[in-house]
Amino acid sequence: MDNHPNNANPTRLPSAEEAAVLRERFREFLTVQQQYRAAIREVTTKLEILNDEFQVLHNHNPIHHIESRLKSVESMIAKLRAKELPINFDTARKHVMDIAGVRVVCRYIDDIYHVASLLLAQNDVELLLKKDYIQSPKPNGYRSLHLIVGIPIYLHDQKKIMNVEVQLRTMSMDWWASLEHKIRYKKDIPEEI
Ligand code: GTP
Ligand code: MG
Repeated sequence: MDNHPNNANPTRLPSAEEAAVLRERFREFLTVQQQYRAAIREVTTKLEILNDEFQVLHNHNPIHHIESRLKSVESMIAKLRAKELPINFDTARKHVMDIAGVRVVCRYIDDIYHVASLLLAQNDVELLLKKDYIQSPKPNGYRSLHLIVGIPIYLHDQKKIMNVEVQLRTMSMDWWASLEHKIRYKKDIPEEI
């Protein structure tokens, strides 16, 4: 990369061919982001509807709040590199399961399992992977229920199944995880310590 012509003169305008390639890549990037954002909205809406229904039926909100995030390009690349896979969106789609992430913070442990089972009972939600770190906490004490689900989004010309990572935890598990994350990442401490 060091002897790339753009590095010699970073302000040089791209040639027409270079511009076409860059434009195409950028368009692909925006498309992928938009599709994962749509999947996050689908999952979030389903969860909000369940929460609203609970309020009407049982006068109880199992969900305290929902957060969501789209994985940054930097961490997508880091993950592909760690898995020694080629850096492109097709590979990312197949091998990075948490490009779209939804975190559901519940009031009680029972609420977590109830909400999860109602979400998974919906016939357009497919469970691809479940990791129950509540039943079996990680050695460091991390607890949460992780689901990777496949969910359809409807585009102008097709239906596409998108993967979304759903993390369900209680408020205290969430508090613990954020604190642990801050301590580990700020100090760059490896996971096993
Ligand atoms: P990642 O490569 O980190 O996504 O791990 P994985 O593919 O083995 O999946 P796993 O279910 O273990 O973890 C997925 C996500 O759960 C992470 O990206 C974090 O958001 C969260 N997580 C998992 N373990 C921990 C932990 O020990 N501490 C904290 N704070 N979060 C964790
Ligand atoms: Mg992750």
